[in-house]
Amino acid sequence: MNKPASLSAHAHSAKVIVCRDATAASRTVANMIVAAVNAKPSIVLGLATGGTPTATYANIVEDFRAGKVQFKDVTSFNLDEYIGLSGTHPQSFRYFMQSELFDHIDIDPNNTFVPEGGASDPASHAIQYEAQIAAAGGIDLQLLGIGHNGHIAFNEPGSLPSTRTRVVELTPSTIEKNARFFASVDEVPKTAITMGIGTILEAKQILLLATGKGKAEAVRRSLQEAASEEVPASWLEQHPDVTFVLDEDAASELSL
Ligand code: PGA
Repeated sequence: MNKPASLSAHAHSAKVIVCRDATAASRTVANMIVAAVNAKPSIVLGLATGGTPTATYANIVEDFRAGKVQFKDVTSFNLDEYIGLSGTHPQSFRYFMQSELFDHIDIDPNNTFVPEGGASDPASHAIQYEAQIAAAGGIDLQLLGIGHNGHIAFNEPGSLPSTRTRVVELTPSTIEKNARFFASVDEVPKTAITMGIGTILEAKQILLLATGKGKAEAVRRSLQEAASEEVPASWLEQHPDVTFVLDEDAASELSL
């Protein structure tokens, strides 16, 4: 059973849903996304990559195959991409999105946007990406993960709420965490294109999914400490419609 919870410590408008385990949390988020698409078939989704959302995407594919949802009028924008990896590189986020979701549903490939890691001028591509989001009418529903260091997308500690889509340097801890997906740490790109915190805060609704003990401290600091650039996810307190969907491990440091 999912347990909607309210927070007692630092004032934060975020809703918090605590699920028994990662499987239940992933299903909860999938249900919320499927319901949002069914309520607005031309929805603009903001999507995330990483280990955390894979089960959510598998659930969405399952619902599509069962005829519960269609994506033919949906547009999507991913949060970020490594600079230097083309979309055919197996560790690129474009490749991840194709293999985890897009290749298995009826979304129009022309309506799936991921920053281009192979862009010849990444800085101007980042500006163009912002314009593409605006041209699509803005993001209706943004899915987020959270890094161990509190990052959202590749907005590392030090990122301000005014930041827009741009080129960033990854912190050594993020590079190390992501090395598990590469043959060696030296192969992990050191820079990325990421939506900014300001870009993310303009989404109409935000869903943050976090599972596992490794995320518990970042979740606690985001929800129960005053917002600061030390923990980029803490800026989400400025948004009026944020839901954290957690498993019990990720919620384990919260005072609820
Ligand atoms: P993870 O990444 O899902 O692989 O833990 C989350 C993130 O860094 O945003």
